[in-house]
Order: sequence, then C-alpha cells, then structure tokens
Amino acid sequence: MDGFGIHRLSPALGAEIRGLDLARPLDHGTVAALRAAWLEHLVLVFRNQSLTEADQVAFAQLFGMPVGSRSTERKDGGDSRVMLVSNVRENGKPVGVLPDGELMFHADSVFLEKPLKGALLYAQEIPREGGNTLFANMYMAWDSLPDAVRSRIRTVDAVHAYDYSTQIKTAAFDRSRVPHAVHPAVCVHPETGREVLHVNRLMTEELVGLNAEDGRAVLELCFAHVERPEHLYEHVWQIGDLVMWDNRCTQHARTDFAAGERRLLRRVGLEGERLPERRDGTG
Ligand code: SIN
Repeated sequence: MDGFGIHRLSPALGAEIRGLDLARPLDHGTVAALRAAWLEHLVLVFRNQSLTEADQVAFAQLFGMPVGSRSTERKDGGDSRVMLVSNVRENGKPVGVLPDGELMFHADSVFLEKPLKGALLYAQEIPREGGNTLFANMYMAWDSLPDAVRSRIRTVDAVHAYDYSTQIKTAAFDRSRVPHAVHPAVCVHPETGREVLHVNRLMTEELVGLNAEDGRAVLELCFAHVERPEHLYEHVWQIGDLVMWDNRCTQHARTDFAAGERRLLRRVGLEGERLPERRDGTG
C-alpha cells in the first residue's frame, strides 16, 4: 500500500492527505484507505498535484461515476464530465460556470431528484486574495441544532429550486422555469447511517406544511446555524490543489474576490442517489 499522512484541517471537518501523487495509479489498499478517510473527514485536500483532465476523471472514478454539468456543455469541446468553474472570459462570455465573486452556501444539485454524491475540484488559476471555498459539516450542524428547531424540522419536507446562474439569492426562483425537487429536511447518509441537516441558503425555498412566514423563520435559523464558524473549514486555494467533498454531508460557499483576477478550476461531480429519510420521531 502507498503510505500517506492524514492531517486535520479544522476541528469541524477536512483533512489534508500528504504523500500521494494522484496522477499515478493507486493500489487497492490505498484507495480503500482514502475512501475511509473521506467518510471520516468529509473533505479531503491534496496539495501540489499536476493533473490532466483524464487524470482527474480517473481519480474521481475510484469514488463513483463521474458526471459533469447538467446545465452547459463545454464550450471548448473538452470532456463533458469535467466542468469549468471560472470567471475567465472569451469573447466576453465566461468559459465556465459560477464565474464571479461570492457564492452562497449550498449542496450541489439538491434541486434534482438525485443530488451529487460528491465532487472533486482542481485549481489551475486562482486570485491573489479571496475566492476561498468554505465547507460546513452537516452532521455537526444537525447534531448541534437547538431542540426547539430540531423538533420543527425533523419530519418535514423541503423544496429546493435553482436556475444554474444565481450565486447570491435575493428572491424566490420561478418554479415554472427552473428545476426543483422535494427532499426530507433531515436525511440519512447512505454509507454512515448518520443524520444530516439538508437545507441550504442558496436553494432551499420552502418547508412543506409550514406557513410561509413560519417556514422562512425556521429556515433562517437553520442557515445561520450551519454557517457558524465552529462548523466550518475554509480552504485557501493554491494552484495544484485537488479538493474533494462528500456532498451528502457537507455544504460549501465561496468568498468574494476581485473582478480583475482570474480564477479557473475544474470540477468533476460524482453521480448520486436520493438520500434516505429517517422519521422515527426521536431526537
Ligand atoms: C462550486 O460550488 O462547485 C464551486 C465552488 C468554488 O468555486 O469555490
């Protein structure tokens, strides 16, 4: 087995894996150990990697089925399983998605029936300052949510909607025009069996069965709770970083960065499943 070191990045989540070159084949023992580390730490960071698109897809395949963006095709004809997250523009148009500045907390594609299992993001160009990615531990957010809020939300469904281009949401989406899905507000991670809070600021619009004002108030409490510093790891990017997150038990957001600075990352998603719910009324 290839030896590697695991170094925790924050008390909440995240670990840096040291000693592996992801462009080289990894043996079974190493892959099994990485899968276990991913389930334990939720976000894995590999620094100083030199990865082609094919290398990134091959590594992603060790953890699931690679899938790209459902919203856009690659304009440059590249591998459609690799989505560009970038503010770089050609002929005035961004070459990728989620181009500029801040991005609110979300889990990927929860507005679909089967949200992503995870994603792997690789940094090619980064701004001198900002554009950091924040990750939240959603096990911890659920476990530490005050009882009064837990009892309001634990058996309720939530509606999630998204239009693929909004990064800072200021109003509800028009559901006749955008993809949307209903999921339990508290789900169970299919591999660990642990419960996670499953609502997010960018995409969750409604708690089914609560009146609009009440539902909004409960959601705001949840969003603010998720974003407490003790639930977070903030990743400050370096070129050559590969960061992979478990989308079933984390959320992520991005800090602002200057418009004149180039930022270019490649993302490979992993096909997911509908998360199971637990509604036994306990907790
Ligand atoms: C994403 O939400 O997939 C992109 C995160 C980032 O640009 O840091």
